[in-house]
Formats: sequence, structure tokens, C-alpha cells
Amino acid sequence: MKNTPSHLSADARKKVCEALRAVLTDGLDLYTQIKVAHWNIKGPQFAALHPLFDTFATDQAANNDEVAERILTLGHLAVGTAKHVAKKSRLPDYPQDVTKDLEHVALLAERIGTLLDGMRAAREVAKEHADEDSFDLLTGMIAQFEKHAWFLHATLGG
Ligand SMILES: [Fe+2]
Repeated sequence: MKNTPSHLSADARKKVCEALRAVLTDGLDLYTQIKVAHWNIKGPQFAALHPLFDTFATDQAANNDEVAERILTLGHLAVGTAKHVAKKSRLPDYPQDVTKDLEHVALLAERIGTLLDGMRAAREVAKEHADEDSFDLLTGMIAQFEKHAWFLHATLGG
């Protein structure tokens, strides 16, 4: 008996899971980066941005769980220790000495942009291998974080 309810071929599942693992790694990194921004932010926009960043973190944590569990559903194992993430994340590290509100907005906007690029690339892999469910999962997450990125860009006046 195979260890997945998926109808996809072993090769397709492997390729999709490799792409999802990369998304999970970036997402776990982004979660901690958002929390650092949530904690260290100071300035006139504090009252609006402190809770907004926590909304992003909550959404990212839920997405990480969804991606990890999709990998398991497809018959592979999730990765995600802090040490793994530190080695493999595609996001630049987050400066932990920044306090200025709009600087955090710009830093998070840049990193969410990188996360979105990775999710779009993974979605292409899902499409190539006819994995409509991973495709749809990623599409929902992309739309959600594009909206979050819009809040940040609008805060910067762009
Ligand atoms: Fe908090």
C-alpha cells in the first residue's frame, strides 16, 4: 500500500514536494522575521503596524502548517528546524537593530516579494505535474500575501 492518497505519479509527487519544501523553508524564515519586526517596531505608525504585522505572522504560521501537511499528504516528509531554515532559506537575513517603522515596512515588503516569487515558482511546478490541489493551495496563499504586500506598499505611498 502506498503512503499517500494522491493519484499523482511518484515522480510528480517528488518534484512538487521539493518545490513545497522550499516554500516551507522560506515561510518559516519569514514568520520569525515578521515577529522580529512586530516586536522591535517604534515610531508614529506603531499603533497600526504592530498589530498588522501580527496578522501577517498568524497567516504565515497557518500557511506553513498547510504546506507541511500537503507535503505529508503527498507521501514525503516536512523539513523545518531552525538550523535547516538558516541554511536553506532564500530570504535575506533580517536586521535585528532596526526600530524605525517605515524601515520595517520596506524590509518586510522586500521579503514578502521574495516569498511570493518562490510560491509562484512552486505553483508552476505543481502546474507542470498536474497537481491542481497544490496549485490551488499556493494560489490562495499568493493572493493573501499579495494583499499583505499591497498594505506595505500603500504605507510607503507606492
Ligand atoms: Fe505580540
